[in-house]
Amino acid sequence: MQRTKRRRVVIDCDPGIDDSLALMLALSMEEVEVAGITVVCGNGPVELGFSNAKKVLRQMGRLDVPVFRGAEHPLKREYVSALDTHGRDALGESFLPEVPGGEQPEGAVDFLEKELLKGGCSVIALGPLTNLALLAERSPQAFGCAEELVSMGGNFRSHGNCSPVAEYNYWADPDAAALVYEAASRLGKKIHMVGLDVTRRIVLTPDLLEYMKRLNSKTGEFVQAITKFYLDFHWEWEHIIGCVVNDPLAVAYFADRGMCSGLEAYVAIETGGIAMGQSVVDAAGFYRREANAVVLTETDPLRFFRMFFGRILKLEEKKLDLLEDLVRQ
Ligand code: BDR
Ligand code: CA
Repeated sequence: MQRTKRRRVVIDCDPGIDDSLALMLALSMEEVEVAGITVVCGNGPVELGFSNAKKVLRQMGRLDVPVFRGAEHPLKREYVSALDTHGRDALGESFLPEVPGGEQPEGAVDFLEKELLKGGCSVIALGPLTNLALLAERSPQAFGCAEELVSMGGNFRSHGNCSPVAEYNYWADPDAAALVYEAASRLGKKIHMVGLDVTRRIVLTPDLLEYMKRLNSKTGEFVQAITKFYLDFHWEWEHIIGCVVNDPLAVAYFADRGMCSGLEAYVAIETGGIAMGQSVVDAAGFYRREANAVVLTETDPLRFFRMFFGRILKLEEKKLDLLEDLVRQ
């Protein structure tokens, strides 16, 4: 029997409701080996992210995965959380019991540096890019060793979610995002930009949640507990029934290249003014710069939910016979 080769990855995140769903997906995949989780301030302060990552690990029975605290504030601008979207505990006001312990002697950037220098390790970044920017500044060599860099962030043809033109992860620390894209450019690397153009299409609806609970009550109830606040937020602010879950698509794309498609282009991040945090995608080649990004513009929500449900509920895809009717295309 042929065994799938496991790809080692560090998940840099700010859990966060959708970060938690992304962690669940990554931890359910036999082809992905999560070497560690590094936390950055974003949706909530680092301490909340650290605590929430451990809650997800407990739910998944994977408290063996180490979690590292990272940057507590953006590189230059003041810190603006997204607790209005993710709840006071940054986990949908589920207020799940704390998981004690799990302290690590090193910080997020130390761990990233050490893991990446070993070679053969990728990074999936699901929050502001502050930890990665600090790494690129401290050790360009380690940054350059990353096998792949996938970042949930930015937007191209789709509008922003923090301003008309900016997405939260890049808007929250635009200097870090700019530095990371420039570092990639210098090193001839391409960041896989899984931005709002594609993640906006991934909508978790009450029907899908209900289906999830029917198939696996333990996992379904956990997902419902952490997403209820998020669903209410979407109803209140966007008048939609369902919530956009951005981060898991980055994990799905890391494991399955067919999950999204797009174009290679040079991307720069605006660091100030009314366009602060905008990912400027030079699709027409105005700047005559080599591409430093793969900008994803198309995705298939049904393919995503087949993978997401199949993996986190541990079910074969043929058992997911209702998905086709329930997924909003
Ligand atoms: C991104 O911002 C955060 O609120 C989410 O976790 C996601 O990473 C979407 O803009
Ligand atoms: Ca996130």
